[in-house]
Amino acid sequence: MGRLSGKIAIITGGAQGLGEGIATVFAREGATIIITDLNDKEGQATAKKLGGHFRRQDVIVEAAWESLLADVEREFGGIDVLVNNAGIGNTGRAQDPEHTTLEDWQRIHRVNSEGVFLGCKHVIPAMRRRGGGSIVNLSSIAALVPTPFITPYGAAKAGVLHLTRSVALYCAETKSGIRCNAIHPGQIRTPMHDILVRQIAEREGLEESLVRGEFLKKIPMGEFGSAEDIGHAALYLACDESKHVTGISLVVDGGMDLSQ
Ligand SMILES: NC(=O)c1ccc[n+]([C@@H]2O[C@H](COP(=O)([O-])OP(=O)(O)OC[C@H]3O[C@@H](n4cnc5c(N)ncnc54)[C@H](O)[C@@H]3O)[C@@H](O)[C@H]2O)c1
Repeated sequence: MGRLSGKIAIITGGAQGLGEGIATVFAREGATIIITDLNDKEGQATAKKLGGHFRRQDVIVEAAWESLLADVEREFGGIDVLVNNAGIGNTGRAQDPEHTTLEDWQRIHRVNSEGVFLGCKHVIPAMRRRGGGSIVNLSSIAALVPTPFITPYGAAKAGVLHLTRSVALYCAETKSGIRCNAIHPGQIRTPMHDILVRQIAEREGLEESLVRGEFLKKIPMGEFGSAEDIGHAALYLACDESKHVTGISLVVDGGMDLSQ
């Protein structure tokens, strides 16, 4: 307990799913949490439940990052941890390289890759003013393996991996005291994952339980991860125990990557 005592942490897309799991662990460990999301209702409810704060934010809008960080510095005295978690998955249309629309490609890259870039870009000066900090970016196992049926998603998450390493080296070489690391979740049951299962089931004319069972077969440890599993990985990267760790890819996937 208390591994994040005194730390101010922003978690984007924290209304539900992995962001909520991360916020739950951070709050339990003593952080002051600021959840941001497009979804006001869920975001406010989650923040209230965890004793944290909520701010409406669209991660793809640069001006929203500027005002969020200015407000947080003014209200809380600075920012120690940013978790770039907000992301989108399936658009409901085909996402193979032959049939993906340019619009879908751009939309997925804007949220999953550009949103993370904007977060890193604007939090660096704020963390430098604080004397350092930790940035945690949500990539995916999809960044590490070819993704023929979710190609824009995999490419955007691979972009997050590269960005993370560049930010980490930049921040280390400029002696900013800022670390930047990526987490690569495998299959974690969240609203995003449930939608993916439903869409595959509808497309293939199968029962959802059958599709879920097929996903499960790909996880050597035999069970889906939980949002709190990702929360615990983020906790390690956010707290001072990882003070010598930057630019890493922390894979949390029940062994999936081993069996690809
Ligand atoms: N669930 C998994 O198995 C899994 C696996 C690998 C990676 N991830 C990644 O983890 C992150 C969280 O995934 P999840 O499963 O919890 O998804 P989710 O859809 O359940 O939750 C994502 C949250 O992000 C918010 N959001 C979406 N676009 C936003 C925007 N432009 N600005 C602000 N908020 C926005 C949504 O409103 C939602 O509350 C994503 O980046 C996702 O790609 C998830």
